[in-house]
Amino acid sequence: MKIDILTLFPEICRAPLSESMMKRAQENGIVDLRIHNLRDWTTDKHHVVDDAPFGGGQGMVMKPEPIFAAVESLRKENSFVILMTPPGKSFTQSLAGNLSKHEHLIVVCGHYEGIDHRVTEHLIDMEISIGDYVLTNGAIAAAVLVDAVVRLLPGVLGHEQSSADDSFSAGLLEAAQYTRPAEFRGWKVPEVLLSGNHAEIAAWRKEQALRRTRENRPDLLK
Ligand code: ADE
Repeated sequence: MKIDILTLFPEICRAPLSESMMKRAQENGIVDLRIHNLRDWTTDKHHVVDDAPFGGGQGMVMKPEPIFAAVESLRKENSFVILMTPPGKSFTQSLAGNLSKHEHLIVVCGHYEGIDHRVTEHLIDMEISIGDYVLTNGAIAAAVLVDAVVRLLPGVLGHEQSSADDSFSAGLLEAAQYTRPAEFRGWKVPEVLLSGNHAEIAAWRKEQALRRTRENRPDLLK
């Protein structure tokens, strides 16, 4: 898969996407990730990327020209163009799975008070929000999206099984996990996990996943 991120703050995306599994995914050629500075597509002396909103109002709006120039220079026939923005469609595990099937993602990061709507109307395939809160800019959101998508590409996780057991994959949150020591400060690991009985362990995990989901995310059970 190829991913191009377009942002005014490349460094915000760079660090989280260059460690651990994301680093290995790139070294192993599973993902070709490029992080670009949108200012590189400005043509004026001062590299201006924003302007005051028509109709008045607070804050600045990102200009369309550098974004169109950048996307049009990177876009191929199979590209899918995303805009990270709070009013976008909610990002979920299932959307991450759909996006991981694309050959090429272009991720545009919004900043300032917003982005000229002609970008959204004529250039973007999908607006995406990572949650119901507002960040200072879309670069953090882009790093979150890219991490979740790349993690699902074949060969990125150690065990092919492990993403199937994730929270959300089966519509429930993941069951609690334990490791050694079997007793810590007097708190014992549930007996069943030491039993070696795989059927009982699976049943216990299912019940724990249900309990956790009921407690933390009852909306998932509806
Ligand atoms: N930019 C600012 N806040 C955001 C959010 N919640 N999701 C995506 N992009 C954003």
